[in-house]
Amino acid sequence: MATTDLAGLRALVTGASSGIGAAIAKELHARGAKLVLTARRRDKLDALAAELGGAQVVVGDLGQPGSAAAVWAAAGKVDVLVNNAGFGYFRPFAEIDWQRDAELVQLNMTSLVELTKLAVGARARYIVNIASIGAYQSVPNMALYAASKAFVRNFSEGLHDELRGTTGVTCICPGGTKTEFHAMAGAGNYSWIANASMMTADEVARISVRAMLANKRTVIPGLMNKLSCWGVRLVPRAFASWMARRVLGKPRPGALPSRAAS
Ligand SMILES: NC(=O)c1ccc[n+]([C@@H]2O[C@H](COP(=O)([O-])OP(=O)(O)OC[C@H]3O[C@@H](n4cnc5c(N)ncnc54)[C@H](OP(=O)(O)O)[C@@H]3O)[C@@H](O)[C@H]2O)c1
Repeated sequence: MATTDLAGLRALVTGASSGIGAAIAKELHARGAKLVLTARRRDKLDALAAELGGAQVVVGDLGQPGSAAAVWAAAGKVDVLVNNAGFGYFRPFAEIDWQRDAELVQLNMTSLVELTKLAVGARARYIVNIASIGAYQSVPNMALYAASKAFVRNFSEGLHDELRGTTGVTCICPGGTKTEFHAMAGAGNYSWIANASMMTADEVARISVRAMLANKRTVIPGLMNKLSCWGVRLVPRAFASWMARRVLGKPRPGALPSRAAS
């Protein structure tokens, strides 16, 4: 339902070309925000901007050093920042070249921190950082991805307390969500329990925006995901890591796909 909670505010959403980012952009739009959409694939961003009846589009590769400042400068005034862009790969660490690891570190952590720094400096009203339930434990075959999300969670929670009264900082930790993420990560041969707890991007987006407006610290969408994150606190970390390996199954064979600007 359309509301006006965010009327007059401008929201920059990273990774708005698909999945959770596109769904969050629609949710913010429905609440009256003006959108600035960023990602690499211009055709997807243009299509979403048209669907929303107009939005600013900024094409940028946040996996490259220097791009966060350029995206920020092009975006203009930002009241709401959603750091959603991210990727992972589901492969043994030893099989992946350094370039992809460097891109992951840059996108999932460095650009997120840089945009957050700029948004805090500009006294933005809200910042939403998308982490993952992978933030709660180590994950074999997704070691760097899970570590990057643990970073996002810790960083966001520290800022939430530090910036109380000026900028609201909310961390969202989705579990499995039906998006292009899994195909891009070379994952998806999941156990029944992982498939049973899958949510839609629209569900995650609704929960994320509600959490932001309520100035929540950290929110894990979905009961199954909440239970799994609470459960890992009760078991040894090595057991939680072993369980993650069981639940995620085996990597999909074949080369990892890659996406470029369009
Ligand atoms: N799906 C899940 O199960 C799940 C679970 C937990 C957390 N998450 C997190 O949710 C966030 C959104 O993922 P999703 O599930 O919606 O997957 P997705 O559909 O693959 O979306 C990823 C978004 O990030 C953008 N992106 C990727 N690389 C980029 C780069 N170098 N520069 C700029 N933008 C880039 C993509 O756009 P372009 O390719 O057009 O650049 C796309 O818009 C990610 O942070 C992910 O880690 C997802």
